[in-house]
Amino acid sequence: MTPTLQWTGDAFHGRLVLIDQTLLPLECREIECDTHERVFESIRSLRVRGAPAIGVAAAYGVVVGLQSAASKDPAEFRRRLLEVTDRLAASRPTAVNLFWALDRLKRVADEEAGLAPRDLIVRLLEEARAIEVEDQEMCAAIGRHGAELLRDGAGVLTHCNAGALATAGKGTALSVFFSAVEQGKRLHVYADETRPLLQGARLTAWELSQRGIPVTLICDSMAAQVMREKRVEAVVVGADRIAANGDTANKIGTYSVALAAKAHGIPFYVAAPTSTFDLSLPTGEGIPIEERKPEEITHGFGRQTAPTGVNVYNPAFDVTPAELISAIITEKGLIRPVTTENVQQVVNS
Ligand code: MRU
Repeated sequence: MTPTLQWTGDAFHGRLVLIDQTLLPLECREIECDTHERVFESIRSLRVRGAPAIGVAAAYGVVVGLQSAASKDPAEFRRRLLEVTDRLAASRPTAVNLFWALDRLKRVADEEAGLAPRDLIVRLLEEARAIEVEDQEMCAAIGRHGAELLRDGAGVLTHCNAGALATAGKGTALSVFFSAVEQGKRLHVYADETRPLLQGARLTAWELSQRGIPVTLICDSMAAQVMREKRVEAVVVGADRIAANGDTANKIGTYSVALAAKAHGIPFYVAAPTSTFDLSLPTGEGIPIEERKPEEITHGFGRQTAPTGVNVYNPAFDVTPAELISAIITEKGLIRPVTTENVQQVVNS
């Protein structure tokens, strides 16, 4: 399988190579990012997307952005580092993994301030690689912890794409399904198509089909009916940012799925690495929600489907309150029940 993203080459001439997810499922084509501006554009236009993958891409984006400054003096290298990290930080506002990864690279640059730029860029590439490897390990651990929650023969539902395409590893929510299937459990996954950009239809349905896991695609508005018909007995989704009390921002429509799950007595699980928690925010109220352009709704995939000039509101994420979440599945184990105390305990363990 083609990796979602990978670094090729050394610190001075290497490139970030990633699958252009806007072309899926019709075409699985890789693109090369040899400038941080290209990485910025790839994140903003969702060629690479999903909170953990955005973090890894941004870390490598810092390295490509610094290549032209590797032979400059330390002050000029430092100035360029801040310019590049500020630019990448402006690509998308909600997924905290982006800021987490950029801060991690800036911290390394501070700690290693005595190094010459040529050595520092090598060290920053090492750190970006470490973020990628840790992400792979976190995905595997999330899968192991989450698989225990699912019964052999279960129908499960997911929203958006929290799979390998959204991370450097096996995914978060989909890693739970992959691990359960590896344990010999039979699952049937219902994938919400995820309007307006169809990550569920284009990416989740594709990933599951590639791995031979039975998947049924539904429109977002069908989830409650699917629950009423008892086709699913658990929901597992990913997250873009989780506040200290467990309130969770994820793809728009997740909140409605959580409400429907509550109404039908179905457990609603969030699967996310600890890099997705933002303990500086006491509740989800402070999570910045990205608003995207109206054309994503009025001209989805190139065809006008609404009257010219109609008012549009297009938030890309919503916040599911902690009380609707049965458990958060992290690489360090389960947070259950979802309370501020339990979040603190697991995230800081
Ligand atoms: O706009 P996207 O496609 O980046 O949104 C992605 C999601 O909402 C995912 O569920 C989330 O980032 C978790 S990915 C492991």
